[in-house]
Amino acid sequence: EKGGFDHFMLKEIYEQPNAIKDTFRGRLRVDEGIVKVSGVEDNLQKFMNADRIIIIACGTSWHAGLVAEYIFEEFARIPVEVEYASEFRYRNPVIRPNDVVIAISQSGETADTLAAIKLAKERGAFVFGVCNVVGSSISRETHSGAYTHAGPEIGVASTKAFTTQITLLTLMALRISRAKGTMARADYFRYLQELELIPEKVQQALETNLEVQTIASIYKDAPNCIYLGRGYNYPVALEGALKLKEISYIHAEGYPAAEMKHGPIALIDERMPVVVIAPKQEHYDKIVSNIQEIKARSGKIIAIVTKGDTQVKALADHVIEIPETSDALSPLLATIPLQLLSYHIAVMRNCNVDQPRNLAKSVTVE
Ligand code: F6R
Repeated sequence: EKGGFDHFMLKEIYEQPNAIKDTFRGRLRVDEGIVKVSGVEDNLQKFMNADRIIIIACGTSWHAGLVAEYIFEEFARIPVEVEYASEFRYRNPVIRPNDVVIAISQSGETADTLAAIKLAKERGAFVFGVCNVVGSSISRETHSGAYTHAGPEIGVASTKAFTTQITLLTLMALRISRAKGTMARADYFRYLQELELIPEKVQQALETNLEVQTIASIYKDAPNCIYLGRGYNYPVALEGALKLKEISYIHAEGYPAAEMKHGPIALIDERMPVVVIAPKQEHYDKIVSNIQEIKARSGKIIAIVTKGDTQVKALADHVIEIPETSDALSPLLATIPLQLLSYHIAVMRNCNVDQPRNLAKSVTVE
């Protein structure tokens, strides 16, 4: 059942090239220059007229929502707010007639997300679900939606659900931006082509596994760890930290890299591993200077870089290379070594990878 892997989590990490392909199959038609997600087609006017998108989710799905915030704002020029479902449901949220709510949930059974959807519906919002489990409560409770085709995710730590959620939300943003005319034609076609190459590039990112395992063996006993990223990869830093916390029980925090100087940099000393997501993209020079700041305080740098990088390589203690892609699609690649890192550290610490303590696959209680 684990297909030759020691754990479901590792199997699911390795399923990502196919899971992503399955999520865009039939929806991404590069030759015709078309993106078609039927739930979006059926409600295209609602998305085009949206004054705002409110994304509600929990945990890893909330992180996918944060990536989507950057993507929707950039591609479709729609303001986006990303809310923890548990906070949204217990306050008195402002919902206006042209707000569109997107609820993201792998299981489709998360109690807080379900309650937030009900509240949004009561307030008159159109609610669109992004779920993995077909026929789940959230898929039934929403007005419309689309499924990620990740296949069953059994490991409690979410992996392929995250990358397929980002894939689907990217398709949605591309479709809406095309309809609204907010993205230049050439850029649109370039994204379509680039998205189609992602499964192959995820495969290449998986090939870092042995190097990541070596790095894991060096840091497995660290009591703390910091994850940094900027822009599209800031949510990936949060997700990397969450993965490490939940399966290896190491205290980890994710931060936007530039926020370090406002406090967290005080934590840095020679015992602190800092994972920096630093692909060659916009603001690369800024992340290089963030790395210098950490080096100057003797922090240990594990950097995720684009193949062929030289600048970060000269500064970091360890580098893990991922293939080059568009900035907006880089979370799909940068996430992979972080999943592997937390996996190997958890295994080396003898943790129960697939069923971490105190956690359940779907959180059906408040
Ligand atoms: C993290 C994890 C949780 C879930 C969260 C939401 O690895 O598994 O944080 O992401 O409980 O679950 P869904 O997506 O099923 O609503």
